[in-house]
Amino acid sequence: MKINIPIDGPSAAGKSSISDMLAQRLGYTHLDTGAMYRAVALNAIRKGIALDDEEKIVDMISNMKLQMLPDGRVILEDEDVSEEIRTNEISMGASDVSKLQGCREALVKMQQNICKEGGYILDGRDIGTVVLKDAPVKIYMVASAEARAQRRVLQNQNQGLEADYEQILEDIKKRDYQDMHREHSPLTKAEDAIEIDTSDMTKDEVCDAVMKIVLEKTGD
Ligand code: DC
Repeated sequence: MKINIPIDGPSAAGKSSISDMLAQRLGYTHLDTGAMYRAVALNAIRKGIALDDEEKIVDMISNMKLQMLPDGRVILEDEDVSEEIRTNEISMGASDVSKLQGCREALVKMQQNICKEGGYILDGRDIGTVVLKDAPVKIYMVASAEARAQRRVLQNQNQGLEADYEQILEDIKKRDYQDMHREHSPLTKAEDAIEIDTSDMTKDEVCDAVMKIVLEKTGD
């Protein structure tokens, strides 16, 4: 039977790329829930809605056409915004809208609906604590802010985006603080989650470690 696997942790801890690798190995689908908050932020900015205007944002979400394709592409109002949601402005904007309880409730419902048949790896901040509270295996991935900033620099360079290490490090620390100290569903490790510190690990090592945990828990 296919289960759903939550992978939570701070930004740039490697959740997304590990989720992709794991999905391939297990024949599962990766749902990047952060991309959904990013799409909300992008849509709000495009429509000139303030990122702290909960009422307008909730209303906007209820009329918003968002498709999370199994191959990872994010389609907003029939437009592929997969790249546009990766800028620094949208990273901060996503963190801003993710503070709003109404926004969280709407996206959590969408996420639970998408993965209701099982076979999904969901990466985010509140998956093990809220979205999939009863999941049999939960992973919490961490890495030092410096290691994460370094990885983001490489990632951005590969995509031809801005790659100022000091600026990225500052943004990561700011976003960590905001994500961990917000009132609703702050980033925390679920009590039953298994923590992996990826600072000094290669992607293959992390993927092997997660696979081992998943197989031990599911008994496959
Ligand atoms: O994973 P990411 O960096 O793409 O996420 C963007 C922002 O969205 C992040 O700052 C916090 C928020 N987020 C959240 O609150 N809950 C999730 N499940 C996923 C992301």
